[in-house]
Amino acid sequence: MIDFHTHILPGIDDGARDVSTSVRMTEMMIEQQVDVVTATPHYYCLDATPRVHCENALKAYETLKSAWKETHPEGPDMPEIRTGAEIYLANSLESVPEPELLKISGTDLMLFEMPFSGYHEWIPRLTEMIAGKAGARPVFAHIDRYLDLYGRRVTDELEALPHVAFQFNTDSFEDRDALKYMYSLIKRGYTIFWASDCHGAHHRVPDMGNTLPGLQKKIEKKFSPAVYEAITKRQYALLGK
Ligand SMILES: [Fe+2]
Repeated sequence: MIDFHTHILPGIDDGARDVSTSVRMTEMMIEQQVDVVTATPHYYCLDATPRVHCENALKAYETLKSAWKETHPEGPDMPEIRTGAEIYLANSLESVPEPELLKISGTDLMLFEMPFSGYHEWIPRLTEMIAGKAGARPVFAHIDRYLDLYGRRVTDELEALPHVAFQFNTDSFEDRDALKYMYSLIKRGYTIFWASDCHGAHHRVPDMGNTLPGLQKKIEKKFSPAVYEAITKRQYALLGK
């Protein structure tokens, strides 16, 4: 099971506040059978260059890794953790150097967070430009949150981007409108990802193992077990697995 969007790294954004929280979150993921985790701390282009973000993320990852070894000398191993970013889409992103450093490590994927202030015409254009410059496939984070906010016309424009993929948060797995949109993406062959977007061990927790089996049942009923399997296979393949 992949958790594609998390704030598990310690002390880097509004996610895990310290390393013991990160360790606890990692334990929860293992209990829930998550084997690949994408660590995606928020990236705001006015705060840091991609290079600095990347260095900070790697440092935080190393901190977690050594704390894990200390607290779990007999195992188990941590799930595989890929570092990356949740890149906030803002106009000033246009001039950022080395955007390719914001790709999820070992992949061609870049996770973009759209603004909640409303839709802007420049969103698809800027996403295409940054992803193009980085040689990346764009993934829109928690698309479920924008369906009401942006409306259908806008999703049409996002869907038209080359190699685009869409990520849904676990808290949308019971939401009728989100599911309807997810099913329509599946029907039309789009790549989708699922994620907890977890921020802590007590609030906004890792919950993939508790929620994904329910979604799996729904997809298998609506389509077939083979369709569900094909979706997960593609997710692993895009992560180089
Ligand atoms: Fe997030």
